[in-house]
Amino acid sequence: MNIVLIGSGGREHAFAHAIAKSQHLSHLYILPGNPGTAQLGTNVRIDTNQFDAVGQFCIEQQIDLVVVGPEEPLVKGLRDYFEADTMLSKIAFIGPGKDGAIMEGSKDWSKLFMQKYHIPTAAYQTFTAETIQEGFKYIQNHSLPIVLKADGLAAGKGVLILNSHEEALKEFEEMLLNSKFGNAGNKVVIEEFLSGIECSVFVLSDGNTYKILPVAKDYKRIGEGDTGLNTGGMGALSPVPFADDAFMQKVETRIVIPTIEGLKKEGIQYKGFIFIGLIKVNNEPYVIEYNCRMGDPETEVVLPRIQSDMLELLSATANGTLANILLQINPQHAATVMLVAKGYPEAYEKGTEISGLEEIKQSIVYHAGTSINEMGTLVCNGGRIMAVTSLAPNLQEAITLSNKAANQIQFTNKYYRTDIGFEFNSNQ
Ligand code: AMP
Ligand code: GLY
Repeated sequence: MNIVLIGSGGREHAFAHAIAKSQHLSHLYILPGNPGTAQLGTNVRIDTNQFDAVGQFCIEQQIDLVVVGPEEPLVKGLRDYFEADTMLSKIAFIGPGKDGAIMEGSKDWSKLFMQKYHIPTAAYQTFTAETIQEGFKYIQNHSLPIVLKADGLAAGKGVLILNSHEEALKEFEEMLLNSKFGNAGNKVVIEEFLSGIECSVFVLSDGNTYKILPVAKDYKRIGEGDTGLNTGGMGALSPVPFADDAFMQKVETRIVIPTIEGLKKEGIQYKGFIFIGLIKVNNEPYVIEYNCRMGDPETEVVLPRIQSDMLELLSATANGTLANILLQINPQHAATVMLVAKGYPEAYEKGTEISGLEEIKQSIVYHAGTSINEMGTLVCNGGRIMAVTSLAPNLQEAITLSNKAANQIQFTNKYYRTDIGFEFNSNQ
């Protein structure tokens, strides 16, 4: 099969790695990819927001299957573009249309969906500029902390957790009247704060049935002990010690099944990944958010644990035959540690040389923000540089291996969290 994979991060390198192992692969193209994916296929510089260019490439290269990594092309309707074209509609496509991607594209939509299908989530109300006065009153009477969410995509920055009514009123007004998050904040969801421990559940849906993939936990804060600014993710592990069989049973009955059935009732044929951000409160799962894609860096621990042939799994998803697939999971523990440029998630330097990769023998290195400079040297080209994943019979061993690899990789102003999995460390 000829495959197009869209994206350029650690998540896409992990997909490329899994696809490259498939016995069904003829050629893998990554649009635009990174130096890591270039070792597994052909990187192609195409702006993936230019749907006509993506479509033309797929026809020219006789592509059989397209896998979309990030949310943006999906929310903007890449699948719909393919479906509307006689030739492109024959290509298998992993990722929902606009109608399904709205689960991530609009927080108001997803809250209404959860309410309608009785899926446990925090209590909320949505306001716009027209209803701002009611919003002010709602905030004044709300318990603290208050969670404010910009309705649309805001590059992971659209959620504010505020500890005073004054701050919440100010931010709410900034969002609705001063476009703090651009159009994404034209609607604001005000939500009850839930206190608990989070995990990420990934579901592959073929529009009819589903498979639950290995559960993961990511570490979003920049600082050790989950302190400091939010990032795209500083590390992840899978499986998650607290997400035991009893908890996952609740997740399946109360969340996954109603979500899949709800999508069908809404007339949405969802073929792709659903990322359910969950929080466990008093042993009960609540949905924090839906995303229409895999997580990053969660993918870097989830995919290495999937032993089934990735292209068989993805083809079955596209063809609606997922029920025939036996999902084989590696029982080992996976831990990934993200190496970032010092300063991230704020200002950081680019262009510094990376070395030491050849020393890594027991871990997988997934590139994220790297590039090759004019001299042919691997350099830093982003905030999150690379993720190192290790598999081991227990979590501590996996973390130790990944920390060792993170230490071996060298670049000026390297930073990584050495405490991934800290809350599960029996030695602390
Ligand atoms: P997001 O940017 O949508 O991934 O959300 C950022 C983070 O905000 C989530 O991972 C949670 O840690 C937190 N969060 C969102 N909603 C709530 C809530 N209702 N209660 C507590 N924390 C929340
Ligand atoms: N790691 C969280 C995300 O991908 O949104």
